Amino acid sequence: MDELRPFLLGQGTERIVFRSPKEKDCVIKLSPLNAQKQTRREIRYFRFLQKKGVPFLHIPQFKGEVKVAGYVGFKQEAVLDADGSVSRPLTAYLEEGRGVFGGSLLPETKALLDELLHYLLRYNVLPCDLTAPNVLLQCGAERTRLVLIDGVGSMNGIPIAQYIPFLGRRQIKRKWQRFMTRRIEPVLKK
Ligand SMILES: Nc1ncnc2c1ncn2[C@@H]1O[C@H](COP(=O)(O)OP(=O)(O)O)[C@@H](O)[C@H]1O
Ligand SMILES: [Mg+2]
Repeated sequence: MDELRPFLLGQGTERIVFRSPKEKDCVIKLSPLNAQKQTRREIRYFRFLQKKGVPFLHIPQFKGEVKVAGYVGFKQEAVLDADGSVSRPLTAYLEEGRGVFGGSLLPETKALLDELLHYLLRYNVLPCDLTAPNVLLQCGAERTRLVLIDGVGSMNGIPIAQYIPFLGRRQIKRKWQRFMTRRIEPVLKK
């Protein structure tokens, strides 16, 4: 744990995120054992998606569980821009471009959002915490894409929406509507 400290990327209420010291293209997410629920759920969900053959295109590649004493954690692809820096949230770009956007989405941004929504619907990838800091805009060398770095999987004890696409789609659409009206539109209107 101490060797990871200098590589700290972010610290939420329950989770600590580090750049992996050995693999530049990986991050390590750790939760203390007394608050391991979210991380456990995510590990289970990523394995489920892998088994189903879902491509990890708009969520970071899952690279397995890691063992650190006192913590539950996993490794995943670091979402980086072409220059090697950690990608920034979509809303950070929207806020900077306020004047330019003039209260509406640029077609390019709209296309990126549509692409993410279509991906979630096509593969029934369930967002449970669709908030602004969890959606990064990755400006890669080859392409620009939105990546959902946190908050996937079903919150419910029995995740039926995971197995019944019809229910999954309903859940995705509901969360997406809320994300657009609460997180994206207010930034554009500022
Ligand atoms: N795969 C990733 N690639 C790059 N940065 C990441 C990645 N995952 C998390 N981060 C950074 O770490 C922060 C916290 O990670 P997150 O998984 O959202 O944890 P929390 O559960 O605390 O919200 C993010 O806001 C982001 O800055
Ligand atoms: Mg988060």
